Amino acid sequence: MVTWSAAKNVFIKIMKSILVTGGCGFIGSNFIRYLLSSRHYQIINLDKLTYAGNLENLKDIASNHNYKFVRGDITNSELVDKITKTSQIIINFAAASHVDRSILKPDDFIKTNFCGVHILLEAARKNRIERFIQISSDEVYGSSHKGYFSEKANLNPSSPYSASKAAADLLVKSYQVTYGLNINIVRMSNNFGPYQYPEKLIPLLITNALENRKIPLYAKGLNRRDWLFVLDSCRAIHLVLEKGKTGEIYNICGGNEITNLELIEKILNYMNKPLSLIQPVKDRPGHDFRYAITCAKIKQLGFKPKYNFETALRITIEWYLKNKSWWNKIKKSRSFISYYQKQYASLPACGRQDIN
Ligand code: NAD
Ligand code: TYD
Repeated sequence: MVTWSAAKNVFIKIMKSILVTGGCGFIGSNFIRYLLSSRHYQIINLDKLTYAGNLENLKDIASNHNYKFVRGDITNSELVDKITKTSQIIINFAAASHVDRSILKPDDFIKTNFCGVHILLEAARKNRIERFIQISSDEVYGSSHKGYFSEKANLNPSSPYSASKAAADLLVKSYQVTYGLNINIVRMSNNFGPYQYPEKLIPLLITNALENRKIPLYAKGLNRRDWLFVLDSCRAIHLVLEKGKTGEIYNICGGNEITNLELIEKILNYMNKPLSLIQPVKDRPGHDFRYAITCAKIKQLGFKPKYNFETALRITIEWYLKNKSWWNKIKKSRSFISYYQKQYASLPACGRQDIN
């Protein structure tokens, strides 16, 4: 006869421990919340808390006994080595993630997205990690006016951000070929949903519209993106974790390709806001026209997006409506205001109502 507490101890011992990096950001925090709901894993979240990392994103699960937060940098090899010793799996979300910031100042993109991945891979190799999952992007394939990139396509990145992600993907793959590390690479299209930092298009446009502020549109808004709801991303990454084959790369697409202008108009219409809020601004240098990927491989693992685009957009708009204090704090911060002024020099400074 085994007592409950002994049984619980055995159960806890066989639960896998996952090191999730960058778990205080947008996708990482959604993923941790998603994974903890399955109760099959213990999670250590290593996050540097850059401007994009926010402890509030995981406030609701902070005291979960299967969750632990460590503030730290993935480029700190000693710390990463120490944490890796108690983990079986690494899922790397940590990154500098905004293309416009990579154009203003590429340094952190190279340090975190490439050198940081090297540190994680070395710790994984040394400590015989069972699985290493690198979270990557469709942007590594570059832009394509027509057709779709499969996982076998060549990498052809355009921005310092996408180049740093492509370089990391190649390094991750090399650790599988050379050292036999059990890796997967997940390349996702543009995510959107709750907790996304309001520098990216969808949260910027929703929150600016709520404040009756101008919405900056690069060039004529004809660039196209394929939008993927973050809760579907979490399900797909979980599927790769549970069923992904060693060494394989998995594209994850949303199946919602649309021009930026159409997307902005759609969201403003949902919000009953005037289209006159749209303000064309100077184009992004090297602006990729279109990202498009095939996702037959992840479908073979059983993935199908659960949320249709309209529902997911409505959930997202509702979330920003209900969580004004979350984004207001960010948009009123000195670091956000200074970024906004630099990035959108032609628009009125953040913090001032600029229309109506
Ligand atoms: P995010 O910017 O919201 O979050 C990044 C997180 O990483 C933050 O919590 C930040 O504090 C942390 N971080 C940054 N540098 C770090 C360092 N040196 N050490 C430890 N932590 C660090 O990013 P996101 O949108 O959640 O993206 C997560 C991952 O998914 C990234 O790897 C990104 O390249 C990839 N991705 C994002 C999208 C998207 O649309 N957002 C699409 C495809 C792939
Ligand atoms: P973004 O959310 O930055 O994602 P990515 O560049 O990684 O695809 O931008 C999505 C699209 O929206 C992209 O074509 C650039 C455009 N965009 C604007 O037109 N205005 C903006 O203020 C931002 C941030 C993006």
